[in-house]
Amino acid sequence: MIEQQIKSAIRDIPDFPKPGIVFKDITPILKDPILCDKILDAFTERLKDTKIDVVAGVESRGFLFGLSLACRLGVPFIPVRKAGKLPFTIKQKAYKLEYGTATIELHTDAFEPGQHILIHDDLLATGGTVTAASELIKEMGGVVAGFSFVVGLGFLNGRERIQPISDKILVLADY
Ligand code: PRP
Ligand code: MG
Repeated sequence: MIEQQIKSAIRDIPDFPKPGIVFKDITPILKDPILCDKILDAFTERLKDTKIDVVAGVESRGFLFGLSLACRLGVPFIPVRKAGKLPFTIKQKAYKLEYGTATIELHTDAFEPGQHILIHDDLLATGGTVTAASELIKEMGGVVAGFSFVVGLGFLNGRERIQPISDKILVLADY
C-alpha cells in the first residue's frame, strides 16, 4: 500500500546527474502532505519495538523525513553533514558515493557514548553513505540501532552491504 503510493509519486529522471543513472526524484512526495504523513506513520509503526535514543539524518535528503521522524519518536535529531558545514568541533569520515566521493561530519557532542542511533536517509543505493555514517557513529561510541529509508535500489545490493552493521533495515519502497 505505502510502497505503491511512494512508487506512484516518485519521478524517474534518466541520465541525471550523469549519463546512465536513473535518478529517483522524491520531490513529488514532498508536495503531498498526506503521503508524507503516511510515510512517517509507516516508519513509526515499524520502529515501535526498536530502541532508539537519537535519529541521525544524512545531508541533505536525509533531513527531509529525518527530523520529522525524530519528533514522532520523541528523540533528538542530529544532522550528519557534508564537509565544512558544521560550526562546532567535528569528527569526519571520507567515503565513496554511487557517483563521486564525499566526506561526512558530526559534531563531537552530537550524542552520548552508548546511545542507540537510528540512521535515516531518503534512499539506499550502494550503502556507501550510511556505512560511512555508521563507522563515524561507532568511532564516537554510538550503537547503530538500525537504518530507515524511503526508497531502496535493491539491484545495487546496499542491503547486503549494511546488514552486518545492523539487520534492522527499513525500506518502504524497494526497486
Ligand atoms: C544520495 C542519496 C543518499 C545517497 C545514497 O545523496 O540521498 O544519501 O546518495 O547513495 P549510496 O547508498 O550509494 O551511498 P547525495 O550524496 O546524492 O546527496 P543529497 O542527499 O545531498 O542530494
Ligand atoms: Mg543523500
